[in-house]
Amino acid sequence: MTKGLFITFEGPDGSGKTTQIHKVAEWFKNKGYEVVLTREPGGTKAAEAIRQIVLDPKFPIKAECETLLYLAARAEHVEKVIAPAVAQGKVVLCDRFSDSTFVYQGLTRGVDMDVLKTMNAFATKGLIPDKTILLDGDSKQLAVRRSTRGVEDRFEMEGLAFQEKVRHGFLTLAKLEPKRIVVLDAIRDQDTVAADIFKHLEPLL
Ligand code: TMP
Repeated sequence: MTKGLFITFEGPDGSGKTTQIHKVAEWFKNKGYEVVLTREPGGTKAAEAIRQIVLDPKFPIKAECETLLYLAARAEHVEKVIAPAVAQGKVVLCDRFSDSTFVYQGLTRGVDMDVLKTMNAFATKGLIPDKTILLDGDSKQLAVRRSTRGVEDRFEMEGLAFQEKVRHGFLTLAKLEPKRIVVLDAIRDQDTVAADIFKHLEPLL
């Protein structure tokens, strides 16, 4: 069976992941690849339903519950969408994945990292992205970007100190896995960022 590619996009809220993932999808399609564009939490009916609960400010859930919900959504997503597509040789582009859990629930909310790693390996059956694009930027500048988007979710409402922790959490992970995680400056015009991403993905083709 041919193996495809699994590429994830990570970064603090407002870092432009969604815009870039669409540009990367077009880039792969133009090269003749079959692309699956998906997101976490989400990607299946059940996982999208979990997304509604976990992001809704109406439900002020704590870190443990939050963690289990993200992982439940991920188990469903990996099994039904990501793993089958990769096995069929497709390019799977995913907006957030395990690194978000390690950063938001682990390094930011303080859930024990060893526990998280064990539970995440259970949810993903050990699936690790081939490449992760980390879009990084100054937390204040990203907050300004987010403020133009309208309604905020439960995480976006946490404030600047939280977003700073998130930023540094991602940079910490990137230092630990420099081969997989590519850090790119997100505070540039969108086409420049995209060109930089393509440069880093080209060697995977
Ligand atoms: P999004 O707005 O980028 O789609 O992501 C939804 C929010 O969920 C975002 O603030 C980050 C958070 N999140 C976690 O806390 N843990 C996770 O495992 C994932 C996938 C997302």
